Amino acid sequence: MAKSRLSFICQSCGNVTSRWSGKCEACGEWNTIVEEQANAGIASGPASLRSPRKGRPVALTTLSGEIEDAPRIVSGIAELDRATGGGFVRGSALLIGGDPGIGKSTLLMQAAAALAKKGHRVVYVSGEEAVAQVRLRAQRLGAADAPVELAAETNVEDILATLADGKRPDLVILDSIQTLWTDVAESAPGTVTQVRASAQAMIKYAKSTGAAIVLVGHVTKDGQIAGPRVVEHMVDGVLYFEGEGGHHFRILRTVKNRFGPTDEIGVFEMSDKGLREVANPSELFLGERHAKSPGAAVFAGMEGTRPVLVEIQALVAPSPLGTPRRAVVGWDAARLSMILAVLEAHCGVRFATHDVYLNVAGGYRISEPAADLAAAAALVSSLTGLALPADCVYFGEISLSGAIRPVAHAQQRLKEAEKLGFGQAVLPKSGEDTAMSMSAGSFQPDTLADLVARIAGSKRSGAQAYD
Ligand code: TYD
Ligand code: MG
Repeated sequence: MAKSRLSFICQSCGNVTSRWSGKCEACGEWNTIVEEQANAGIASGPASLRSPRKGRPVALTTLSGEIEDAPRIVSGIAELDRATGGGFVRGSALLIGGDPGIGKSTLLMQAAAALAKKGHRVVYVSGEEAVAQVRLRAQRLGAADAPVELAAETNVEDILATLADGKRPDLVILDSIQTLWTDVAESAPGTVTQVRASAQAMIKYAKSTGAAIVLVGHVTKDGQIAGPRVVEHMVDGVLYFEGEGGHHFRILRTVKNRFGPTDEIGVFEMSDKGLREVANPSELFLGERHAKSPGAAVFAGMEGTRPVLVEIQALVAPSPLGTPRRAVVGWDAARLSMILAVLEAHCGVRFATHDVYLNVAGGYRISEPAADLAAAAALVSSLTGLALPADCVYFGEISLSGAIRPVAHAQQRLKEAEKLGFGQAVLPKSGEDTAMSMSAGSFQPDTLADLVARIAGSKRSGAQAYD
């Protein structure tokens, strides 16, 4: 073995340095650098365990040639299969991340039971819970009779030896990757080196045998899978399981998928008997909105690469004050002033004698300029007392001239809106072919004045705004 050498590894990004510092130079995170034995890690990896050998030439090939569709194992849980792009792919590794207690183990136990009942060999390795705890959950889910093979184990070598016994499993679930450890790495379980080495060993097992493996990963409070981001690069697919605090619905979101689309979501509801599929999520979502009240507009936003729908609420009321109030929660106050100025200057809408309040529902914070259009629609709706259509989403940036500018990811925003049951959209004109995406049509105004005219025009027709 090579001489043991100490290294300092960032637990967030995996960057290796030779000395400790409070802040990682690579990713800028604070207090993430931990001392680890480097020689046993991946960096010097398997090479340190083997005697050096001469490489042998491999056959190079062409891009064209025979292709096979990825062979899939379909769980029968439609929302899960949708998120994975049609089922677990044999010989692939999938990472499922999420906050503690969100329901990752529940979801995977349900999938394991469904697959085992169909005759697949499914092995569930729990590193966090004892066998009795897992049994208890299975009982609660009504899955205790499913022939799932269960073990409570954390050592990778023992797990691999167990799996090598008997028929090759179709699906192996490892709950969770943070608890696994391998003899190859010398650091403590949960450290970046251990997690990487364990993940690599399991992924190698999947590729060499053709079994599908699912790794469960915890998510830190800032939304990253705890420990190494590198695991995300190593696996073939990454799913996030998310939920709103205080709500029962859960969203399974695809972040990365080498074998399918990445803009799919699966929606579930947590019940006392496990996760229930939600076929029509818009019911859940719209149920919480007061659809007919003026001053509310749904913004189709993006959070990094993930689409997020949020309601923007505006209240415009006559002001008793000489200088009317402008208050905003969850958005940029300067941005609000700018929208108000554009509405006054280019659209003839007067706010000078009104207090204006703007709120983003659910304690959410928006930083995108794409929210301009939704905010403007909510403001005009509140001022005129005309409710906007309940099934309409808004996005687009407003320039100082009153023109509406295109924003990125229009297709993704529309797709998410459709998935959540929205049928109309107000969006900027753009090169992308987005006009045909919505079932009830979309409106692509050139300027903000066009949108104001449309909202105000709905008064004459007597109907709810442009229905
Ligand atoms: P769990 O799957 O253990 O979460 P994770 O593995 O992501 O940490 O789910 C834990 C929560 O789900 C727990 O708070 C109880 C709740 N739950 C239900 O509401 N109904 C159920 O049928 C089950 C099994 C769990
Ligand atoms: Mg769990």
